[in-house]
Amino acid sequence: MHKGIESGGWTAERNAAEVVSSGLEDVYIEWTRLTHVDGDRGELTYSGYAVEDILGKGALAEEVMYLFLHGELPSAGELRRFRGYIEEGYEIPDQVVATIGLAPRSASVVALQMQGMSALSAFSPGGQRYDDPDSAARLIGQMVAITSVSLRHVMGKKSRLPLPSDSVSRSFLRAVFDVEPEEKKVDALNAALILYMDHEVPASTTAGLVAVSTLADLYSGVVAALAALKGPMHGGAVEEVIKQFRDIGDPSRVGEWFAENVLNKKKKLMGFGHRVYKTYDPRAKAFKALASSLDLSGGSAALFDVAKALEEVGIYALGQKGIYPNADYYSGLVYMGIGFPPSNDAYTGLFAMSRVTGWIAHFLEYVEEQHRLIRPRAVYVGPDRREFSPLFERRRVVAELPPLRSRMP
Ligand code: ACO
Repeated sequence: MHKGIESGGWTAERNAAEVVSSGLEDVYIEWTRLTHVDGDRGELTYSGYAVEDILGKGALAEEVMYLFLHGELPSAGELRRFRGYIEEGYEIPDQVVATIGLAPRSASVVALQMQGMSALSAFSPGGQRYDDPDSAARLIGQMVAITSVSLRHVMGKKSRLPLPSDSVSRSFLRAVFDVEPEEKKVDALNAALILYMDHEVPASTTAGLVAVSTLADLYSGVVAALAALKGPMHGGAVEEVIKQFRDIGDPSRVGEWFAENVLNKKKKLMGFGHRVYKTYDPRAKAFKALASSLDLSGGSAALFDVAKALEEVGIYALGQKGIYPNADYYSGLVYMGIGFPPSNDAYTGLFAMSRVTGWIAHFLEYVEEQHRLIRPRAVYVGPDRREFSPLFERRRVVAELPPLRSRMP
């Protein structure tokens, strides 16, 4: 045991040191009927339905959104009503649109989504109810509108809100690009919405759950989740993956790039590895098939070739450690193939537009059925109790702080 831990006081906390879970690995924080991830078999199910089955049967993203908020798939009439609530959400207040317009064009789309969601929280004092799936559906529509306004802002276009149509994907693509979208692009976005819709309790959902466990409003929960999604170890990886493919540039450079960066410099291969999956993430396979279905051309086709070559090398070198492609490995190429710009965290923003359904479904389930404030503990390994000396008596200000790691058992 370390010196700092041996000496005096706070024994109970220090004895708890062995229960500290680094990165909360394998800590269960809630019960859920939403999503199950089998990390050893590489299986993902939404309320019992395999994600491949949902995609293969041609489901609309809205059907899966309904499943998450209501627990069962909708009938045609239920789906129509549900889409109506989402479409009500498209009409975000002008002031929220204006808030987004104040940011520089170089802004991150995820930062703009946070700005938009914070503004909605400010415009809805009292927040939203946790027992109302219809207003949760409106919130999904608001996120679609905020994402459209944010993307258009960074693309240098005037703001435009989505309008009702036969699908969220079509309404969104029409709003962002001003033209009638090709069917295969509507289908690809619909599939991407489903693939990213929920994934149990990753960092973003956990951050949002912490916020709503204080009974903060749903918008604030979404802002907390967005903040956690933004980083490159989670949703921000989509952006890093594309940068990585661009950095390599050509399939012939893959071996040399991998040896220099991953083997020698010990950099992480972006889009590979997962806390739960120790085999191929099923979403990565689905996104790869979607990228193929888009018949990529020009620069994105070249990046797809790099991606496939790098995937082979990555699995060969890292597969035995259980490190395989994750959802973010091919999703950026799908977004690029649809026509979204590869800048300003746009792809992480599109990921967030899918995931907002999972976030709020977890929030509702947690607050309504198993609510308790999430308030964990920390094991104190700092100095023992000591006397505070007033400023004028203090001789030495610069203390030599030992690194925290040296005090951890
Ligand atoms: N490339 C190379 N080595 C890796 C990678 C990777 N992508 N991922 C993990 N490892 C190695 C680590 O270096 C470490 O090796 P060591 O034991 O020899 O030190 C070991 O695997 C364990 O790594 P951790 O980072 O502790 O594992 P964790 O469960 O925390 O990692 C994570 C999960 C953060 C996703 C990690 O794999 C990673 O950083 N990947 C790259 C970023 C990425 O693609 N993120 C997207 C995740 S999916 C999503 O958000 C939808």
